[in-house]
Amino acid sequence: MPSLTADLTLLVANAFEAAGLPPELGVVAVSNRPDLGQFQCNGALPAAKTARRKPRDIADDIVARLKDAPALSDLSVAGPGFINISVSDAEIARRVAALDDDPRSGVTPAAGETVVLDFGGPNVAKPMHVGHLRSSIIGDSLQRLFRFLGYRTVSDVHMGDWGLQMGMVISEIAIRYPDLPYFAEGAAGPFPTESPIGLDELEQLYPQASAACKADPERLEAARRATALLQSGHPGYTALWRHCMTVSKAAMERDFASLGVQFDLWKGEADVNDRIPGLVDRLKAEGVAIESQGALVIPVAEEDDTTEIPPLILLKSDGAVMYGSTDLATIADRQDAIAPDLALYVVDQRQHLHFEQVFRAARKAGIDGGMGLEHIGFGTMNGPDGKPFKTREGGVMKLQDLIRMTTDKARERMVEVGLDRESPSEEAPVATGGDVDETVARQVGLAALKYADLSNHRKTNYIFDLDRFTRFEGKTGPYLQYAVVRTGALLRKAAETGAAPGPLAPPTAVEREVMLTLLQFPDAIAAAHDGRSPDDICEHLYALAQAFSRFYSACHILSEPDPAVKASRLTVVKITRDQMALGLSLLGIDVPEHM
Ligand code: ARG
Repeated sequence: MPSLTADLTLLVANAFEAAGLPPELGVVAVSNRPDLGQFQCNGALPAAKTARRKPRDIADDIVARLKDAPALSDLSVAGPGFINISVSDAEIARRVAALDDDPRSGVTPAAGETVVLDFGGPNVAKPMHVGHLRSSIIGDSLQRLFRFLGYRTVSDVHMGDWGLQMGMVISEIAIRYPDLPYFAEGAAGPFPTESPIGLDELEQLYPQASAACKADPERLEAARRATALLQSGHPGYTALWRHCMTVSKAAMERDFASLGVQFDLWKGEADVNDRIPGLVDRLKAEGVAIESQGALVIPVAEEDDTTEIPPLILLKSDGAVMYGSTDLATIADRQDAIAPDLALYVVDQRQHLHFEQVFRAARKAGIDGGMGLEHIGFGTMNGPDGKPFKTREGGVMKLQDLIRMTTDKARERMVEVGLDRESPSEEAPVATGGDVDETVARQVGLAALKYADLSNHRKTNYIFDLDRFTRFEGKTGPYLQYAVVRTGALLRKAAETGAAPGPLAPPTAVEREVMLTLLQFPDAIAAAHDGRSPDDICEHLYALAQAFSRFYSACHILSEPDPAVKASRLTVVKITRDQMALGLSLLGIDVPEHM
């Protein structure tokens, strides 16, 4: 079923057309003056210009044409020509009833297009930082949203496993352990099957190597040479690289598992290494790639650029493969293997120029197969000082530490507000000083982290504030989780007393508000899809939880004496619970059984 606003738009657009006015002006939206009407259409104002009529006259004309529409209960014109529209209670109830037991809560799936989601993007041998965390949280939410909408989704973690950091790490190992067989002159293997270094050492190696390369140009040169050798297939380096991959990947898998994030493909930059020589030759032969100052580049500047877009570097003068080269070859690879309609790259906004270059180069090279290529940029998660979030010591905050921190805070908060396991769920919590279930504390901590991240528009920077994120009131993950748990407990309690949800009765004002909010879910989903913006879902869920809480405090539910009214209200409770749980699942937020 199309959403209520979509149907109202159709109705009003037809009235515009019948009045000889452009139907696209008949757009209906939720009113920002709910005291005047539930919905509004402002199309009479722009229509007046072309039609040379007074906007109020046009609005009156449209209202007269809509007068007999059976679904509407009230129509009026306000100010210079705003049309206010309200829907009848019968129509509202009819539509809300259709949401009952609908696992999609009114959302119609789109056509089955294929979308590749490139997110996560951790780098081998480097610990994941908050940028990777944001990419994982936003990317996973988009993955869930697109899958829910009927797309075939293919997610790829796209590890950074082929760049200069690998050369830095290899040359650092060579300095620490020069006698390892990987470095022996002409060694061709076989090499040991056990990695000579473990995760802890690997994680120390890179920062040290990187600092050394910054301080000493010779070290940097050595790292560059090692990178070039690795990329051209040096057997010892390749074997060592494999070890780093295995060790690093195990840590990444653990990190993503604790976030509840899954990928279909665990590919990386190195996976397209074999494709690059052929691609380079072809692009050279076709004149798409040209020599420039010893390097091989693809010029991508276009005439109407307002800022300079430098060429994409395919090969450096030493033959090294660049970030852009692997990204370009990956597009060709995905086109061959998956042929997606769309590819979304959920990566830090600061890489925007890089993606602009890669996408233009792909189109110029004709390897994109016409797929949509979009960079889904995001801002940074900052510390209280306004700079990208770090540990107190100024180091990179490791994901496991971050999760531990949020879990601890969530546990503390739950004890504080009385949400430990001894509290009765459907009533106001009472602090008992009891224990908090570990799984629940973790779920609440993750909800705090994810909701805080997703509820800001992805492009804005935000400040990491665990105190605020873990509150049980206000716009937070824990508040929404608790709202779902509480409605669930209410339904259980009702069932115990033999009361069951039943047909919807005409709503009171606060009930009407919840019902109208429930009907906006498809619009929120459409907005999140169109803008690639999970914050639209966050916004909706918060509005729903608030409307529900007003309803809950104003209406009797379990204590309602009239059984028909009680059954109707229980249906509203049930649909609200289901829609909130569905919405949270699209954000990657689990709802605990009890709280
Ligand atoms: N590894 C990169 C980084 O840490 C992110 C990779 C994003 N994906 C891509 N196809 N370039 O910045």
